[in-house]
Amino acid sequence: MSEKATIILDGKNYELPVITGTENEKAIDISKLRAQSGYVTYDEGYKNTGATISNVTFLDGELGILRYRGYSIEELAEKASFTEVSYLLLYGELPTAQQLANFEHELTNHTLVHENLVKVFEVFPTRSHPMGQLMTLMSALSSFYPDSLNPNVHPDEVNTTIIRLLAKMPTICSMIYKKGKGHPVLYPQNKYDYVTNFLYMTFGDVTQEYMADPVVVDAMNKLLILHADHEQNCSASTVRIVGSSHANLYASISAGVAALWGPRHGGANQEVLEMLEHIQTVDKGDVKKVVAEAKDKKRLLYGFGHRVYKNFDPRAKIIKVACDNVLKKLKVNDPLLDIAKELEEAALNDPYFVERKLYPNVDFYSGIIYKALGFPTPMFTVLFALGRMPGWISQWKEMRERKEDIGRPRQIYNGATLRPYIDLKNRK
Ligand code: SDX
Repeated sequence: MSEKATIILDGKNYELPVITGTENEKAIDISKLRAQSGYVTYDEGYKNTGATISNVTFLDGELGILRYRGYSIEELAEKASFTEVSYLLLYGELPTAQQLANFEHELTNHTLVHENLVKVFEVFPTRSHPMGQLMTLMSALSSFYPDSLNPNVHPDEVNTTIIRLLAKMPTICSMIYKKGKGHPVLYPQNKYDYVTNFLYMTFGDVTQEYMADPVVVDAMNKLLILHADHEQNCSASTVRIVGSSHANLYASISAGVAALWGPRHGGANQEVLEMLEHIQTVDKGDVKKVVAEAKDKKRLLYGFGHRVYKNFDPRAKIIKVACDNVLKKLKVNDPLLDIAKELEEAALNDPYFVERKLYPNVDFYSGIIYKALGFPTPMFTVLFALGRMPGWISQWKEMRERKEDIGRPRQIYNGATLRPYIDLKNRK
């Protein structure tokens, strides 16, 4: 007998079905509540509301669990490549060697962008924020691939649109980096794998042969895997709701980039580094003062807290270890890492943070690695987007395949009730 929930409204009982997922998560299905009772539910920020039933990513905020299609983030970060994880998220299964080779071959054949897209870069002011550029270029792709405008075409055609986006993302991200440096853009080289190609296009230069550092390639693969998806976060939900209007993939992803830009979401990794630099310079390393100010709500500790994780963010744990390793191997001695560790120690031993379950999140250590790898701070959220791309696309693809209805939340109106129009001459 399937589980039911009973709500009593105005003395009347309403029975609502309960949905149970494969990890025993439970939800009350209220899709018929308004029709039956006239009531809607209210949940600002959707903290307690499931917007979909998804097979892509499972996370348990209390236990600090994160899995892509059932595989733990710990195993994937340790054993898989980013293209392997992208395939897994997109198609639901780990690829065989042949499937992975075909997938990577397809990606390699779509890495170039239209020359006129390169010209779009020329109009950006040099110091324009990389995320603003990325948003523009994502939606610009729909102009260069008009056959992508209709998402209701044969799945093979949709897949080509997906491959184009995934393949061109590293090229576009590296162009944004080069634009910021005023350096010539480097074109993708088919001899390199996905991540090495991105590092070549970013850190290579026209004057000399590029030698990829295996430490950097490994760290980049890990970081991209750790950022690849995170179920119904703000930007993924944005991609899904824009896509639910049958907007094309590029427009939906451009909206996701916009949502990620916010400092409470993906923009936090840039804020974390700027916060650590502020602590080092303005606060003269006085971590105790910083924690006290955060407790007095005078400042936010970027990189701490999470809407879902009320335990350690499993990604933060992995990135912290990778951070130590990368800085050691690259012989980088960054005092910001010491400040970060001191801040983490102070916060995790302070009842204010412990009671509010404010642990370091994915953004807390990632910026330190990105800095050690040579990326400027304004590029950090672009790197988050590079990692999150397969996740966003997988969420959009699943929403389309589930043929989900257009997203249209309800509200409770609390404004003025009916009142007559007053002519301008009579208004005081
Ligand atoms: C990402 O959703 C995802 O999955 C996102 C993400 C992904 O992979 O897509 O994981 C990526 O966005 C990670 C989060 C990065 N953002 C930051 O690091 C910004 C700093 N964090 C805060 O803005 C905040 O923690 C949120 C927005 C992330 C989560 O906010 P919640 O869960 O809604 O918590 P809250 O705002 O209700 O705060 C609860 C209490 C409040 O104090 P009280 O009112 O109870 O006294 O904790 C305090 C807050 O003031 N608090 C913080 C804090 N975060 C919350 N105090 C100081 N520093 C912080 N960072």
